[in-house]
Amino acid sequence: MSLIKIINFPTIGDERGSLIAMEAKDQIPFNIKRVYFIFDTQKNVSRGFHAHKDHQQVAVCVSGKCRMTLDDGKKSEEVWLDSPNKGIFIDKHIWREMHDFSDDCVLLVLANENYSESDYIRSYDQFLKITNQ
Ligand code: TYD
Repeated sequence: MSLIKIINFPTIGDERGSLIAMEAKDQIPFNIKRVYFIFDTQKNVSRGFHAHKDHQQVAVCVSGKCRMTLDDGKKSEEVWLDSPNKGIFIDKHIWREMHDFSDDCVLLVLANENYSESDYIRSYDQFLKITNQ
């Protein structure tokens, strides 16, 4: 089973331009409690390098692109987030890394919980212990 769980957001377009809605009831498989976005990422910077104990997230590049790798402790897969239509569901216990940010990249993340450092697994060794036990 693929680690890459793509959510396709329909574009609502008319002669004025485009609009995309992300609603918990239709596209997002949890109630959204927090929204954050990553932008102005400097050249050759990669981010992420963590998993969550419980939190779930959906990530989408609303502008530009980046390459995301997802790892469940057994296998790793990568996906380009390169369209505002293309979201990725990231479940708990998935190690994520983001690379190759374009200058114009705005990576939007929706989360089902408030920020809590205690939910982070920031050591890859600890992540492997948790996922392979
Ligand atoms: P971090 O999660 O380490 O960023 P990334 O994994 O994308 O590289 O977060 C960077 C900093 O921002 C860290 O000090 C925690 C803080 N932060 C918040 O205060 N609230 C949030 O919702 C998030 C995601 C991070």
